Amino acid sequence: MTTLQATFCGQTYDNPFMNASGVHCMTTAELDELANSAAGSFVTKSATADSREGNPEPRYINLALGSINSMGLPNLGLAYYLADAIKRQTETPDVPFIMSVASYKGFDEYVDNMRQIQDSDYTGLVELNLSCPNVPGKPQMAYDFEDTARLLIEIFSFYTKPFGVKLPPYFDIQHFDKIAAVLNQFDLKFVNCINSIGNGLYIDEATDTVVIKPKGGFGGIGGEYVKPTALANVRALKQRLNPSIEIIGTGGILTGRDAYEHLLCGASMLQVGTQLQKEGPAVFDRLNAELRHILETKGYTSIAEFKGKLATLD
Ligand code: SIN
Repeated sequence: MTTLQATFCGQTYDNPFMNASGVHCMTTAELDELANSAAGSFVTKSATADSREGNPEPRYINLALGSINSMGLPNLGLAYYLADAIKRQTETPDVPFIMSVASYKGFDEYVDNMRQIQDSDYTGLVELNLSCPNVPGKPQMAYDFEDTARLLIEIFSFYTKPFGVKLPPYFDIQHFDKIAAVLNQFDLKFVNCINSIGNGLYIDEATDTVVIKPKGGFGGIGGEYVKPTALANVRALKQRLNPSIEIIGTGGILTGRDAYEHLLCGASMLQVGTQLQKEGPAVFDRLNAELRHILETKGYTSIAEFKGKLATLD
């Protein structure tokens, strides 16, 4: 009997599929839809201290091979997601999920947000988003290795609950080495690879213009465009991180085959962004069916039998 059960941070999930933060997770109503879908778990929209409208529209455009976005962290504020998370934790304790937390202003806001969660009744997983490329004038925290180390030292000085970090894509072997060396100093529970490929540019063939308004058209690229980069980041970090740090694979998961490849590279959970935006939560029924079919065709009965076992040619 084939099972798609996934184990992640000490919990068992029916399957490894989740939304990627930002898609279908702004309100409690959307989160409820995910909780009631065929996804194994879900993550909230990245919360900043205060609620935010985000960047001017148009700010998210679907493309033939993926998407471009510069949302600018629109969200209902940390208090909203924290209250929702505590309620879920109490009412449906057997449905684990992840709370995503970001910062609009930088270092101090990250710390303040984590302090607020530490002081709350929420005890579940947090995904600290160190990689939003869409805040005008602000860099992606995790591209600065020293600042990332400094931030994690500060947070670990008071934070005692389980959390992981969402990373931007890295493109150089030395950068894989450097970020892994930073993250291995801490008792992180997971990393999520990857956020969108930041600051891409898409030009509309009919109008010769950019397609999104913020930042002169520069935005994060997701979907089919990013799968090889996502797989490389999952694989490279799996090879470098302490075995206790699990990986969420995100980027370019359109089909069961894409999911299978992320798992081969070592991912434990799988987040779907662009394709969820295009298809809605029914995407999880399709992905589960396609992944199950691959396991059955290959004679596997569980994900554990092939997870992380990508073969090389040497
Ligand atoms: C956004 O709100 O701009 C997207 C969030 C992210 O890329 O982390």
